[in-house]
Amino acid sequence: MGKNPPDYDEQRKLEDMKKFAIAAAALFAVTSLAHAEGDAAKGEKVFKKCKACHEVGEGAKNKVGPMLTGVVGRPIASVEGYKYGDDLAAKSSMGAWTEELLFQYLEDPKAFVEGKSKMTFNLKKEDDRHDVIAYLKTFSN
Ligand code: HEC
Repeated sequence: MGKNPPDYDEQRKLEDMKKFAIAAAALFAVTSLAHAEGDAAKGEKVFKKCKACHEVGEGAKNKVGPMLTGVVGRPIASVEGYKYGDDLAAKSSMGAWTEELLFQYLEDPKAFVEGKSKMTFNLKKEDDRHDVIAYLKTFSN
């Protein structure tokens, strides 16, 4: 009988721990999903850095770099009228740009092409890369 209050406390503690564990798991699931998917709105801001050399969207033209409309799923080095560097052109045998390949390329274009890259820019921050890829995905051909 005298044991009731402590037992009750133990139960409460256990319940609280369970709730905490569930909340933590849910938070983890949400943040890791957001991480893997990228945030297109944030990516639009990241893309400001790319705009010095690239256009994207309707009527986008080639500038210093090729236009990027529909680049996710587009064959590597395939924009008509753009003169690619030989080493990126050689990578066209890898097929189309997937999100994974873009993720690698943007981190270090020179390493990706294993030679000379005409693109002298990189994004070291993983989140920036996920976000800008999510933004690029919103433009299809
Ligand atoms: C200083 C200019 C410059 C900046 C800034 C720049 N790029 Fe590039 N980009 C280029 C050039 C030049 C190429 C062509 C590379 C080659 O032929 O080796 C290129 C190529 C690419 C390609 C390959 C396209 C294809 O058709 O295969 C992608 C994708 C790309 N850039 C994405 C980006 C993104 C995203 C950003 C911003 C995070 C960015 N670039 C910033 C100049 C730039």
